[in-house]
Amino acid sequence: MKIYLIGFMGCGKSHWGRLLGEKLKIPFMDLDDRITAAAGKNITEIFAEEGEERFRALERDTLHQLSEGTDSFIMACGGGTPCFYNNIGYMNRTGTTVWIHCSVDCLFGRLQGEKAKRPLIRDLSDEALKSYIQKKFSDRRIFYEQASVQVPGDELTLDRLVDVIFHS
Ligand code: S3P
Repeated sequence: MKIYLIGFMGCGKSHWGRLLGEKLKIPFMDLDDRITAAAGKNITEIFAEEGEERFRALERDTLHQLSEGTDSFIMACGGGTPCFYNNIGYMNRTGTTVWIHCSVDCLFGRLQGEKAKRPLIRDLSDEALKSYIQKKFSDRRIFYEQASVQVPGDELTLDRLVDVIFHS
């Protein structure tokens, strides 16, 4: 079983992925963590020193390597993962994709306090952050909507997530 959690930054992919892995007794993998381990630098440094294009290529390569090397996992993807290199098509062919769908207001509330570790938003004022989320979310929706299943994320529970994955 290969489960890919997708959705906008701040939707809870890593949080829920870890809990889901524990509940289902399936290994949990965080794609961003694997990219940073392989690159020997954090996401902000990769973006700053090598650029977003290089990050997206690393992201795709790491996604393929992890998926091909493991039979069963829960993977928390990055917010942009489904939107490049037809990664969404790849993930749908190899497993089940789950879109954790949060409202813009909820994402804004969560991301306000967590800008530093995210290079795409770290220098934005609160006002600019809100517009960024609105714009980026509407650009990315078309990719997120291709998920095998989707679940509202503002007030998600683990039981609900399990139910959606196994009974949709
Ligand atoms: C990104 C989201 C980040 C990380 C990188 C780019 C994006 O992951 O992959 O900063 O393009 O939305 P999270 O969604 O886990 O923050």
